[in-house]
Amino acid sequence: MSIEVRAVSKRYGDRVVLDVDELTIEPGGVTALIGPNGAGKSTLLSVAARLLEPDTGTVRIAGLDVRSAPSAEIARTVSVLRQDNRVAVRLTVRELVEFGRFPHSGGKLSLADRDVVETSIEAFDLGDRQHQRLDELSGGERQRAFIAAVLAQSTDYVLLDEPLNNLDLQQADRTTRQIRRLADDFDKTVVIVLHDVNIAAHHADRLVALRDGRVALDGPPDEVITTDGLRVLYDLPLPVTVIDGRPVALHFLRHGRNGAES
Ligand SMILES: Nc1ncnc2c1ncn2[C@@H]1O[C@H](COP(=O)(O)OP(=O)(O)OP(=O)(O)O)[C@@H](O)[C@H]1O
Ligand SMILES: [Mg+2]
Repeated sequence: MSIEVRAVSKRYGDRVVLDVDELTIEPGGVTALIGPNGAGKSTLLSVAARLLEPDTGTVRIAGLDVRSAPSAEIARTVSVLRQDNRVAVRLTVRELVEFGRFPHSGGKLSLADRDVVETSIEAFDLGDRQHQRLDELSGGERQRAFIAAVLAQSTDYVLLDEPLNNLDLQQADRTTRQIRRLADDFDKTVVIVLHDVNIAAHHADRLVALRDGRVALDGPPDEVITTDGLRVLYDLPLPVTVIDGRPVALHFLRHGRNGAES
């Protein structure tokens, strides 16, 4: 029961922004999608979550064709954190997270649903903020509320587009641990878009790097995060070292203190 992307393409005007012939994500584990701005990461995630219709191709998740499967079934199978989270209505944190239970509760929360809501709010350290409205939160608090709402959906497949945006070091650390636990303790299949290649290399089992809408690199962290690999992706010559068995790109060493290129 994997995520299977087959011959998926999307164009705007005459520009092809996504062209993925074949990508299979086996169940379990954390796969990070990396790559430069505009590479097609969010487009791919949106197609997989049925937020966006591709021009060609199919995505199957756990055997469901996301374009044709019943919405309710998709909602119980896959949850998604979008890159830009805006809600028109004025919800509180708790209301948003309760909303995440909708595919299960149908609007009437059971005791078990309430339990999940509680756990999600605590997991993201939002207990003190739960009755505040989303527009009254800091950027990082709001981001955490949206992640909590995604996790409250308790789906087997979790797609997260830049979940660490706006999070401070401690909250980013908590969040990456939560994400890792989803895979390790709850057997979820997690796909996460990240810009920080070191965080990706440290926490993910597999890195899929997009560039110009195509899969440019794909493999375990030590095969993707190399000086050659990073040059392919970002056109930068970056030294790479190894810490705890994982590659670490020393991107901050590229420029001297006065900004001169080294
Ligand atoms: N509605 C749209 N109309 C025209 N072009 C679009 C539209 N949506 C996305 N694009 C283009 O598609 C390309 C891929 O966008 P996408 O959001 O998938 O990139 P990304 O890899 O997620 O980038 P980022 O790291 O900046 O989030 C971009 O160059 C973008 O300009
Ligand atoms: Mg994006």
